[in-house]
Amino acid sequence: MYNEVDLDKIDINSEPPMEEPARQYYFMAKCREWIREFERKNGRCPTAFTQTFGCQMNARDSEKLTGILEKIGYKQAESEEADFVIYNTCTVRENANNKVWGRLGYLNAYKKQHPHMKIALCGCMMQEPEVIEKLRKSYRFVDLVFGTHNIYKFAELLAEALEQEGMFIDVWKGTDQIVEDLPIERKYAFKSGVNIMFGCNNFCSYCIVPYVRGRERSRKPQDILREIERLAADGVVEIMLLGQNVNSYGKTLEEPMTFAQLLSEVEKLEGIERIRFMTSHPKDLSDELIEVMANSNKICNHLHLPLQSGSSRILKKMNRRYDKEQYLALAAKIRKAMPGLALTTDIIVGFPGETEEDFEETMDVVRQVGYDSAFTFIYSKRTGTPAAAMEEQVPEAVVKERFDRLLKEVQRGAAERARALTGSVEKVLAEEINEQDEALVTGRMGNNFIVHFPGTEDLIGKIVNVKLKECRGFYFYGEMTD
Ligand code: 5AD
Ligand code: SF4
Repeated sequence: MYNEVDLDKIDINSEPPMEEPARQYYFMAKCREWIREFERKNGRCPTAFTQTFGCQMNARDSEKLTGILEKIGYKQAESEEADFVIYNTCTVRENANNKVWGRLGYLNAYKKQHPHMKIALCGCMMQEPEVIEKLRKSYRFVDLVFGTHNIYKFAELLAEALEQEGMFIDVWKGTDQIVEDLPIERKYAFKSGVNIMFGCNNFCSYCIVPYVRGRERSRKPQDILREIERLAADGVVEIMLLGQNVNSYGKTLEEPMTFAQLLSEVEKLEGIERIRFMTSHPKDLSDELIEVMANSNKICNHLHLPLQSGSSRILKKMNRRYDKEQYLALAAKIRKAMPGLALTTDIIVGFPGETEEDFEETMDVVRQVGYDSAFTFIYSKRTGTPAAAMEEQVPEAVVKERFDRLLKEVQRGAAERARALTGSVEKVLAEEINEQDEALVTGRMGNNFIVHFPGTEDLIGKIVNVKLKECRGFYFYGEMTD
């Protein structure tokens, strides 16, 4: 396994190899030398802190960054008071960017007192030309900036940044390269995300993701299955297959394969007990997928199916390529095939031109479908997207009022559905000791609901039966049973 590559056996005085991932291991070996020098000078290990903003894809990317940092000898720090700080950024909504700018202000002050420290920024926000401009002008204390396409080159970029003074920027417009077998440091021992594809081709009119993550690229099924086998051998029992739109998996492969086919292959792997995936676009959710899910023992009874809006008129302006009726029909078909399934969604309020009638259509879908949970977002204008140029932006006060109404309805419906589960016995993956009460373990059911129950640390990573005794809105208190 590449995680076991011995960096000391790599000759760093020769030229770096051209092929990947060997090239990155060469640079890891170089960084390791730099770290040893640091240790000799300072009498201690240097520390590194990785902060992730945004989605599960970013969380997985950060595990890759941490994997490399650990491999070359950094010790993980618990806060930004570290020798190396990296922010893996998100730009899906404006407030994601604002968080980063805010924290950079704080980091600047810290670096003034610790001038030797290095600061790096990567991820989606770095793919925006305006962001790079602003960094160049006003954030000169940042040492290294790279984007989403060359994250696999982190070791090489870090080697560069460690050796030179001043800002080093390397942001690519796109890539079709997928580099396998780099080190990864998982956050959880028992569960893991697994990328199955990168990028998005859908161009929903409000969304910046296709611009910052590039075109859709699927990983080869053999690489995915090999990674999952290794994870299982390492004690992982639950995996989440990750992609912006998993339902279009495999279309760009030399030997095309559907997502449902991939799931069937994953299902066969021993050791993996639970399979999740994220995210499904309603426009290409196939009957084949519903069938595979319905017949599976391992795929969790949860489906995240972003609605975005319930108004066919707005859906068209959003370029979602389904209408209200099609979405409702799909939801009904799914519920019929899998009655116990939890359906969750994403909804945007205040898309340009959204009228009260349009909003009422959204409320109607929410009532009809009865979501088990929903992420609700206020529309955020993203520069460069078609929606940013649309007129009729909805006034803030109107959006806020609609948002509150939607949230209330979502919460009411979700609480009702959760209550109906009270008294049942569910399979629960014990994930951690409860933060507030050490006598309790917090676990997750297949339908993604959380339950707290009396238990001890040795349960963590195990799947146990829990009787749901009390519903507290969105979570439960329960008790282990046989
Ligand atoms: N404004 C608000 N929400 C957005 N999302 C994506 N782009 C925007 C935007 N510009 C939401 C969508 C998507 C989720 C990940 O983020 O609901 O499903
Ligand atoms: Fe954005 Fe639409 Fe792609 Fe999701 S499917 S990442 S909302 S463009």
